[in-house]
Amino acid sequence: MSVAVTETLRLDYAALSRTIRALTEGETDEVALMATVVCEVHHADSRFDWTGFYRVTGPEMLKIGPYQGGHGCLQIPFSRGVCGAAAREKSLQVVDDVHSFPGHIACASSTRSEIVLPVFNNADELIAVFDIDSDQPAAFTQHDADGLSAILREVFAD
Ligand code: SME
Repeated sequence: MSVAVTETLRLDYAALSRTIRALTEGETDEVALMATVVCEVHHADSRFDWTGFYRVTGPEMLKIGPYQGGHGCLQIPFSRGVCGAAAREKSLQVVDDVHSFPGHIACASSTRSEIVLPVFNNADELIAVFDIDSDQPAAFTQHDADGLSAILREVFAD
């Protein structure tokens, strides 16, 4: 695929960020913010088959938050899964093939790739992870990681 076509097809995260900022202006409730981010991100790109937050609810424990897509498991300890790795290491996880990730938790058998980002508040505390699953292999790029990180920082940390 030509560079021009690739550039044309890339998700416009700046526009998505502007939309989310307009929708959430003045809102401080974390669940309302999460629900809005999930809705707008999920519907922005056909690669995104499951989009949601897992919130830090106790020591080493994540519990499901707002999401779009099929049923998501309710609890994930930091010791398990791609989400647990993102929370434990406080770092981005991009998984091109979920079947090669030790301990991957399959909420849907159709999932092939996944991106999970840690979410920090304005005190730099980990409050959640943001998880997107795709039924396409190797669906996520550095462009996605950069764009999603910027949105999460603007909504939850700035
Ligand atoms: N795949 C995630 C679990 C969440 S479901 O995909 C919604 C993981 O391995 O942590």
